[in-house]
Amino acid sequence: MLIRRKRGWEIPENRATPESVFLNRREILAAAGMGAIGLAAGSMVLPGLARAAEADPSAGLYPAARNPRYKIERDVTPEKINAHYNNFYEYSTDKELADAAQALKIRPWTIQFGGLVEKEKTVGIDDLLKAMKLEERLYRHRCVEAWSMTVPWTGFPLADLVAFAKPLSGAKYIQMETFLDPAMAPGQNQPFYPWPYVEGLTMAEATNELAFMVTGVYGKPLLKQMGAPIRLHTPWKYGFKSMKSIVKVSFVEERPVNFWQQLQSSEYGFWANVNPEVPHPRWSQASETVIGTNERVPTQLFNGYGEFVAGLYKGLESEALYM
Ligand code: MTE
Repeated sequence: MLIRRKRGWEIPENRATPESVFLNRREILAAAGMGAIGLAAGSMVLPGLARAAEADPSAGLYPAARNPRYKIERDVTPEKINAHYNNFYEYSTDKELADAAQALKIRPWTIQFGGLVEKEKTVGIDDLLKAMKLEERLYRHRCVEAWSMTVPWTGFPLADLVAFAKPLSGAKYIQMETFLDPAMAPGQNQPFYPWPYVEGLTMAEATNELAFMVTGVYGKPLLKQMGAPIRLHTPWKYGFKSMKSIVKVSFVEERPVNFWQQLQSSEYGFWANVNPEVPHPRWSQASETVIGTNERVPTQLFNGYGEFVAGLYKGLESEALYM
């Protein structure tokens, strides 16, 4: 159940509003928001920062060489700030969930490949990592809540995962699922949400060079609160497409209905491409707050990645491409 904490400035919202939206708005309105979090982060014990490298058997794979093709004009968001400002509803609807997310058990971890594939298979994360060539990419990360970061992800192209899975020609979409384990993730005891978290992309999106499977961050294995041991990042789309802690990858004919769409289809769609000119039904997407500096900067079409992805949407103009 959502817990509604009414403040004087809050406008009434429908029951299905993602709680992060109003929490985020509260934080942004607090203005001092990131300054305060930044200060606090500097002086507290940082869950996951020290522990991840010790506990993770893949630690020796990092850092990987940076791919210089993906240049960025913004400063990288400091790790200490990113590690304490996350969306991971399996653990909390609050951004400070790093401690809670340490309950995520990342070994053993398997990923099941199924649906329209030559042969179904289940692969352990460390075997998958051995089969992939890791690289680091600096990507802009833009949440639908109108905040953004710049993150040094490490991983491999989703196109390589697709090749590894060997889908059949009838596959039109890739669908991915997060783990389902309410004993490990207390948020999954909230029956209001349609667990497990599901997302999908068209095959053309999935094989676009930008679509990236993330297994590391800041030159180390991925932190639990960021979706260890493996997540997606699609930098031209709102962050909710970039799903975390993936256990299942399927190739399907029918368009997947994602987690947020299942909750509120009038506000969240399948495509979710970033567009400053298409407001969310309840707020503008024209600009975004840069987490770490609290600057407000203009949002860019496709989050600045139009040269890579605009062509994917030719002929699809009748679709709700920007929600
Ligand atoms: N994946 C899962 N499984 N659960 C979630 O709650 N939140 C999404 C996305 N992936 C989410 C998820 C949203 S709304 C955003 S903005 C990004 O993760 C946040 O990623 P970050 O915490 O690394 O910034």
